[in-house]
Amino acid sequence: MTEQKATNITWHEANVTQTDREKLLNQKGGVIWFTGLSGSGKSTLALEVESTLHQRGHLTYVLDGDNIRHGLNKNLGFSPEDREENIRRIGEVAKLFADAGVIVMTAFISPYCADRDNARDLLDEGRFVEIFVDCPLEVCEARDTKGLYQKARAGEIKEFTGISAPYEAPPHPELIVNTSSQTLKECTERVIAFLESKSLIPTSQ
Ligand code: ADX
Repeated sequence: MTEQKATNITWHEANVTQTDREKLLNQKGGVIWFTGLSGSGKSTLALEVESTLHQRGHLTYVLDGDNIRHGLNKNLGFSPEDREENIRRIGEVAKLFADAGVIVMTAFISPYCADRDNARDLLDEGRFVEIFVDCPLEVCEARDTKGLYQKARAGEIKEFTGISAPYEAPPHPELIVNTSSQTLKECTERVIAFLESKSLIPTSQ
């Protein structure tokens, strides 16, 4: 757990609550947390789910590993400590989005169970959905969309997830999608169906 450094700080309650905002938006805020190896399809799936939700009239946002590392987390690398801080910050940002009433999707490798659990613990029960984007390493490596696996195998990238750094698959995710045996459309439909089944979004007419 990150220590509280600042002292003499006071929490202020807002006048407008999460419930007020959700009423305005006519939706429930929440976090859909995609986890999986690099190249497993987290970002692609998150963006596809977002398109579907947007078309259905929901306010959404995608936080994506590569993008966030250009800004908010540009001072972090890929050591275990930096990955932990990466996920800690994203967990807090995702919580703020959910509090704003937004359905936020996160697409980070997030390789450590403990860090994902910490992100989950920030949210009320039922508002955090962990989705394991399961795809065998061989398939991710064969795709090698960014050419990084080749570099990692050649020793040009250190601490690369799946090659020289660990990935801890979630033992109890809310949902598992397999992007090597299911199409993008199928995976998207499964995510949407799950959100409907938990009443995070209304069932489509
Ligand atoms: S995490 O492990 O801290 O959750 P994050 O999702 O933010 O990782 O970033 C992963 C992305 O950074 C990968 O998809 C890949 O494009 C890039 N990357 C660069 N170096 C590494 C590395 N050593 N391990 C994993 N991904 C890396």
